[in-house]
Amino acid sequence: MLKVEETQPVEFSSALLAKFDEIVKRYPEGKQKSALLPLLHLVQAEYGWTSVPAMDKVAEFLKIQPIEVYEVASFYTMYFLQPKGKYVLEVCRTGPCCLVGAEKIMNHIEQKLGVKEGEVTADGLFSWRGVECLAACGFGPVLQIGPEYTFYENLTEQSVDQLIDDLKNKDLRQ
Ligand code: FES
Repeated sequence: MLKVEETQPVEFSSALLAKFDEIVKRYPEGKQKSALLPLLHLVQAEYGWTSVPAMDKVAEFLKIQPIEVYEVASFYTMYFLQPKGKYVLEVCRTGPCCLVGAEKIMNHIEQKLGVKEGEVTADGLFSWRGVECLAACGFGPVLQIGPEYTFYENLTEQSVDQLIDDLKNKDLRQ
């Protein structure tokens, strides 16, 4: 995954631009703006987040105003407007999960990773945040990890430790 600072100019690779072209072709002539969501997903997959320079480049590509991209990217919570870790642990913090210990799990993750919500660990591997209901209310506490949005249910402090250690080990093998 490429790293980029917020103010660093972005030049999309020819491979990424080819994917953009392929997606834009799916929409009728003049409706290229409809490709905005999938293009932002591709940008986030490439850079780990959607920086302002990257959003500006997307606007340029789609021939729309940058504000139109900012509006969309800031509306949907799946787009990260700040740098994030390679793995983002998104813990459900809605009522039913809180009743079975979601807050305890979030506190534990904060302690285990040593970073507050939204921050990135020094090794660049992890971030975490609380999110609203993940629609697995009967299996709480629950978290998901993008970009595949893998679910982990019935969390305990021990299972969270195991999950984080497994991800660290997985990364070492890559
Ligand atoms: Fe946590 Fe619905 S309340 S998944």
